[in-house]
Amino acid sequence: MARSNNLHSVAAIFDTPNKIIKAAEKVRDEGYNKFDVNTPYPLHGMDKAMGLSSSKVGFVTLFCGLFGGSFILLFMWWTLAKNYQLFIGGKPFFALPAFIPITFEITVLIGAVSTFIALIAVFFKLPFNNHPLHDTDYMKTVSVDKYGIYITTEDPKFDKEKIISLFKSLGAVSTDLIYLPKQEKFSMFNLKFVLFLIFVAAGTSGSTYLLLNKLMYITPFDWMEFQEKYTPQETSLFFGDRRSMRTPVDGTVAKGFIPYPYKGIANPTEVLSNPTIPTEDLLKMGKKKYLTFCSPCHGNFAEGDSRLNGQFPNGPTLHSDKIIKYSDGMLYHIITNGQNAMPAYDLQITRHERWAIVDYIRVLQRAKNAKNSDLVEIKKESTTNGQ
Ligand code: HEC
Repeated sequence: MARSNNLHSVAAIFDTPNKIIKAAEKVRDEGYNKFDVNTPYPLHGMDKAMGLSSSKVGFVTLFCGLFGGSFILLFMWWTLAKNYQLFIGGKPFFALPAFIPITFEITVLIGAVSTFIALIAVFFKLPFNNHPLHDTDYMKTVSVDKYGIYITTEDPKFDKEKIISLFKSLGAVSTDLIYLPKQEKFSMFNLKFVLFLIFVAAGTSGSTYLLLNKLMYITPFDWMEFQEKYTPQETSLFFGDRRSMRTPVDGTVAKGFIPYPYKGIANPTEVLSNPTIPTEDLLKMGKKKYLTFCSPCHGNFAEGDSRLNGQFPNGPTLHSDKIIKYSDGMLYHIITNGQNAMPAYDLQITRHERWAIVDYIRVLQRAKNAKNSDLVEIKKESTTNGQ
C-alpha cells in the first residue's frame, strides 16, 4: 500500500503464452484487481483469465453512431422537407428511401471517428505520455518476444515481498520493480523537432512556389495561357467599329447550307418546287408545326378564325380559291419570307418543317373541300375490299 520509494508496481516476465495465462488466472484468484498484462500479440483467453469485462468502447460507437444517424436525418428533414423544399422527380419532400444512404454513411462516419477519438483521448489518455512503464527494460522485452504482468501499488492487497514470491512460484523468468518517473511530464515537442518541422514546411512550399511560378516561366517555356487573342465582347483598337467580334463577310454561306434564293422578294416570278413526299410521319409533323406556329392567327383548321382576339391582324382563311391555286413553292415562300403583316418564319421553323407545313395545309384544304366523288371513291374501295 505504501507508495514509499516512488514504487509504481512489481512486474514479472514469463517466456511462454501458457505460463502468462496461468499467472493471470492465479493473480486474479488471489484477489488482486489493479494489475495488467503485456504481450507482444493478442492471446486467446487472456480476457477471461484476467477477469476483464467486455470493453466499453462499443457503447461509444453505438451512442455516437445513433446520434450521427438521427442528427443527419433531422438535418435532411430540416433542409429538404422544411426550409427549402425542392420538388424532385415527384418524390415526397421527406423521401425516406432516398435519405437512407446518407443516413447510413453519416452513422458509420460519426461512429468511427468518435470511436477513434474516444480510444485515443479517453481510453489511452493521450496526451498523457509519461506512463511509468515507458522506456523500462520490462516494456522493451514484452513488446518483442516475452510476456509480462505487473501489479501496481494502487492495489489494496499490494505487498512487494508476497507478490515477488507469487510470481516466482508461477515460474517467472525474472521480476522487476518499476518506479514512478522522476519527471512529471514529458513535453510533446522539443524545440529541435519544431524547428525541423518549420524548416521542412518552408522548404517544400518555397521550392514548390519557385518551381511553379518562376522556374517554369523561364524561356523556352512560353505558356499558352498568355495568348495574343481577343476574348468575347472585348474592345478592339484595330477595327474601325472597335468590335473584336466580327460578322461574316457579305455573301458568306454556311457549310452545307443553301440560302433561300427568293428572300426579300414580295412577288417572286419563280419559286422552289416541293421536295417532300407527304408520308404519314411528315404530315403528322406538319400538323404539329402548323398548330404551333400558324394556328394562332389562321385558326386550327386554317379557316381564318384567329385565336388572338384581335391582338394581331387576323390571318385570312387558307381555303380561298386564291390560296388553293397557289403552288407549294409559293406557300413555302410566304412562310419563309413573310407577307405584309405576316412575319417571316424562316428563323423559327427549319426548311424541312416548312415543307411539312405546306403539305399539311394541302391536307386541310382537301378535307374542307371534299366532293361527292370522294365519297363514291371510298365506297368503291370498301366494296372491293369486301366490307
Ligand atoms: C401572327 C399571325 C400570323 C401567323 C402566326 C401566321 N400568319 Fe399567315 N398571315 C397572317 C396575316 C395577317 C396574313 C395576311 C397578310 C397580308 O395581308 O398579305 C397572312 C397571310 C398568309 C398567307 C397568304 C394569304 C394570302 O391571301 O396571300 C399564307 C399562305 C399564310 N399566311 C400562311 C401561314 C402559315 C403556313 C403560317 C405558319 C407557319 C402562318 N401563316 C402564320 C398572320 C399570320
